Amino acid sequence: MASAKFYLFIVLVNCLSVQLTLTATSCSRGYFLDIGNCYPCTPGTYCPDGYRQLPCNPGDYQDSFASSSCSSCQSGYFTTQSGSITCDICPVGSMCPNTDRDPISCPSGTYQDTYGATNCRQCSQGYYSTSSSSHQCQICPKGSECPRPDQSPLACRPGTYSNDYGAYSCSQCSSGWYTTQTGAVLCNICPEGNECPRADQPPTMCRPGTYSPYPGSSCISCPTNTYATSSGQVSCNACPLGYECTQSDQEPRVCARGFYRDGSMNYCQRCSSGMWTKNTTSVRCEICPVGFECSTTDSSPLPCRIGTYTSSINTATCSRCSTGYYTVEVGSIQCEICPRGYYCSQPDTAPLACPNGTYSDYKQTQCSQCSSGYYSLTSKSADCKLCPRGFACDDPSATPQACPVGTSANYGARSCASCSQGYYSVQNSSATCTPCAPGYFCDDSTKCPQQCLPGSYSSAAQTNCYQCSSSCSSNPGVFDCSTCVTAKPTGCQ
Ligand SMILES: *[C@@H]1O[C@H](CO)[C@@H](O)[C@H](O)[C@H]1NC(C)=O
Ligand SMILES: *[C@@H]1O[C@H](CO)[C@@H](O)[C@H](O)[C@H]1NC(C)=O
Ligand SMILES: *[C@@H]1O[C@H](CO)[C@@H](O)[C@H](O)[C@H]1NC(C)=O
Repeated sequence: MASAKFYLFIVLVNCLSVQLTLTATSCSRGYFLDIGNCYPCTPGTYCPDGYRQLPCNPGDYQDSFASSSCSSCQSGYFTTQSGSITCDICPVGSMCPNTDRDPISCPSGTYQDTYGATNCRQCSQGYYSTSSSSHQCQICPKGSECPRPDQSPLACRPGTYSNDYGAYSCSQCSSGWYTTQTGAVLCNICPEGNECPRADQPPTMCRPGTYSPYPGSSCISCPTNTYATSSGQVSCNACPLGYECTQSDQEPRVCARGFYRDGSMNYCQRCSSGMWTKNTTSVRCEICPVGFECSTTDSSPLPCRIGTYTSSINTATCSRCSTGYYTVEVGSIQCEICPRGYYCSQPDTAPLACPNGTYSDYKQTQCSQCSSGYYSLTSKSADCKLCPRGFACDDPSATPQACPVGTSANYGARSCASCSQGYYSVQNSSATCTPCAPGYFCDDSTKCPQQCLPGSYSSAAQTNCYQCSSSCSSNPGVFDCSTCVTAKPTGCQ
């Protein structure tokens, strides 16, 4: 190149020098004076004042003859030497901000892909360049991130990934995904039965008592009434009825006898009082039947003992028969009423007959003595009989005693009454004593009245006759001496 310019210069000088043959002291601008002759300024120089020929400064050039000045290099061109005929274009991979200086290599993180640039271009986001003089930046590869354009790509850290080219930064694995590798292009989904609380660590198996139902889910506590005893479960097992699973990480526990669990319950519950279960692992309680008692929930029903009963189901304790009732059988659903003529002092004993001379109504614990003047000759009496007229009932259990002669008794007498003075009874079993008739006397109540002797008299109910004063000496049985009237004879013989 330089030799070609010089050749052209020689040709032009030879051509023009023919015309400039005059002897001069000064030349026009663009020409210079040399030993009296004017010569045109050659390319690469300038002749500002008709005297001197000066080389173009660095950053300037001149490609013509006879120039009075040099031209600045165009932007993007440069020349570092004096006397340049042309400027050089700035090469790719470089920038030329100053026309008089050498091109500057694009530093790392920048590039230039065209000639004649005054500056380098920043790598686009996701691109990088680690060397100088780059014509272009490189795209960040998959599995890496390029946060700084002047540095090499960084492999994605565990827990992050980049599945495309040109990433500025790696993406965090989504919840439920993980990767333990560096430089991951993709995350792995957390498998079912596991959880991945940290995306940069391997999956951990669900602990007993928890489960993870599908890929990507975290471990969830087993719901109520389910359990899981091993790690890594994808589901929990249903707690069987008759068992309880209050600790979801342990095997179901048997409901003890007397307890039960059905589908509506969360734990084994004791049967309500009066109910019971046949065994362990019960799903329901059994009814305690009538006539039986269930004093504990974990034992079988027992029949009511004698003297007790229950007419209700689900009884914890049989009831003692009420006063005046009894039962002598086990398993009674009711007590018997103590009948009339009997007594029931103990609820577990059969009724006992009331003895002679006593009686009872229903529901009695003891018999009553017959009232005074009453009697009962038989056992099992519901009531006593009234002692009849003419009889005495001193012993209520004995046959009424006939009143002997000389005594009498009305209804209900305990003893016979002796006849009063002047009265008599000559029959056994007399209800009353008879008053001695007028004209008679009764000095022995067991005998019939005796007629007053002639000359004597008596009024009614007398034990003696009295002497008349003077008269009536011929008639017996006079009751009035003034008239000497004689009484009719009595019926008594
Ligand atoms: C109680 O259940 C167990 C196991 O189910 C059984 O072996 C046993 O015979 C049962 N007992 C009764 C009294 O039913
Ligand atoms: C009760 O009276 C009956 C019948 O009258 C008789 O057979 C029985 O011996 C009497 N019992 C007593 C204890 O008196
Ligand atoms: C009265 O009873 C007694 C004793 O049983 C008997 O001896 C007597 O003859 C009886 N008298 C009459 C009048 O029935």
